Amino acid sequence: MSAHHRSLPPHPDLQRYYPPGEKRQFVRQIFDAAASDYERVEKLMSLGTGSWYRRRALRRHGLPFGNRALDVAVGTGLVARELVRLAQGKVFLVGLDPSVGMLLQARERGPLSGVAACGENMPFPDCTFDCLTMGYALRHLPDLLLAFREFHRVLRPGGKLLILEITPPRRGLGKAMLKAYIRSLTATAAFLVTRHRSTAELWRYFWDTMEACVPPERVLAALEEAGFLQVSRFLELGIFSEYTAVKPL
Ligand SMILES: C[S@@+](CC[C@H](N)C(=O)[O-])C[C@H]1O[C@@H](n2cnc3c(N)ncnc32)[C@H](O)[C@@H]1O
Repeated sequence: MSAHHRSLPPHPDLQRYYPPGEKRQFVRQIFDAAASDYERVEKLMSLGTGSWYRRRALRRHGLPFGNRALDVAVGTGLVARELVRLAQGKVFLVGLDPSVGMLLQARERGPLSGVAACGENMPFPDCTFDCLTMGYALRHLPDLLLAFREFHRVLRPGGKLLILEITPPRRGLGKAMLKAYIRSLTATAAFLVTRHRSTAELWRYFWDTMEACVPPERVLAALEEAGFLQVSRFLELGIFSEYTAVKPL
């Protein structure tokens, strides 16, 4: 099989949540259902540091870069709002997400050019954006290689990419503690605060995808295979992965 047709799902199908091959529908539906609670629970989970950390990571990697930015998996706009803030408004930003529920939440929180589509198949011409960000959505993509090739296509030569992701420790106490924090504590607190079962399920699902996710080395290799240069990973506090890459000139 040629390199162009290889695929790399971020994790195997999780059959306790959806039948094989039905991840896409499941993901869209769970994010639509939990959209109105997402920021409240995210704030609780990150103890209010979510926006601050996203801003810090963007700044660390020199983003926004240029004046046309694309935030893939914009969700309620947590990364997008920090991009706009750092650019002091001087950036044209597009936020893309397949969940219309999430896009509506993002709109309520600030002006945004929202586009309902998937990161692996985007309705933009080649070489449109100077920079592309994606926060905490790597695990929700159907295929990393497909998505990274698409990111490469829509970036202009010299354009920069930043992907934020949580990478739990592979074993030991650190892993057990993070699992308890996300899968039990946050999921339970989410239910108590919102009274929505789907919101509790979302946080359990997050953990299960993190645990099943391919290791960072595979993500880096896939970025290279998609044609990116200067591919690297910065690790903050042992769990926050910041993947960066540049499209060659
Ligand atoms: C955990 S939220 C992250 C939102 C935001 N980036 C943040 O930092 O809070 C993940 C988002 O990924 C979106 N998503 C799921 N599948 C996707 C896909 N194939 N392409 C792009 N976004 C996707 C979901 O709808 C959801 O809004």
